[in-house]
Amino acid sequence: MRRPVVAGNWKMNGTQAEAAALVGGIEQGLAGVRHAELLVCPPFVLIPVVAEWLGGSRIAWGGQNLSAHKSGAYTGEVSGAMLRDFGCSHVIVGHSERRALYGEGDEVVAEKFRAAQNVGLVPILCVGETLAEREAGETEAVIARQLDAVVHLAGVAAMDSAIIAYEPVWAIGTGKTATPAQAQAVHAFIRQRLAQLSATVAERLRILYGGSVKAANAQELFGQPDIDGGLIGGASLDAGEFLAICRAAG
Ligand code: PGA
Repeated sequence: MRRPVVAGNWKMNGTQAEAAALVGGIEQGLAGVRHAELLVCPPFVLIPVVAEWLGGSRIAWGGQNLSAHKSGAYTGEVSGAMLRDFGCSHVIVGHSERRALYGEGDEVVAEKFRAAQNVGLVPILCVGETLAEREAGETEAVIARQLDAVVHLAGVAAMDSAIIAYEPVWAIGTGKTATPAQAQAVHAFIRQRLAQLSATVAERLRILYGGSVKAANAQELFGQPDIDGGLIGGASLDAGEFLAICRAAG
């Protein structure tokens, strides 16, 4: 049995007071969440605020991005070691907004994945196709390319200490969710592709769905055999909604 994971991606939102109120609200409702693994990924500057609130709690926290480099002359960047220093256990890598808006290609994403693991962070590797790619029938080819770049650099065994998030670009922040069947088909494809290299790693790997997950659709999505939880954007900014999604994960 794979333990479900629910991760909140706050994106570029929140003040210190809002971050404290949000994690405080989530903490208060945790009793109803049975065994899902939970984490929040605030913007870098809010990590210390969240860390102070969540120290000793069952909720982990992580970054939304990291530099592929260890340290040095990279103005504006944050390294994996810095995230570790602030208690992060996870980091999102290759989110579609990083790929589309900041020019992160498959190779850079793979480097970041490796940089994360080098310092003991669990990378949450995001993959997903655009609407144009889906309509052109290229979904599997795109996912395969994004996945293969990481496996080529880090090796399939590296997937044993990673999480994958399938996030169709057309479903992110749009209110358009992939149907459970559409999502399941891609999740199964990801697992099968990795199973060609290692059946054990593929079986253990948690694959999260992301893209307009809400309390109202979480249960059906998480009920699919290859969907092991969610990466939640907008709905993770509301404690009640996020908790309801966490409860749906189990
Ligand atoms: P959304 O974002 O839940 O707001 O669609 C998901 C994500 O980008 O991780």
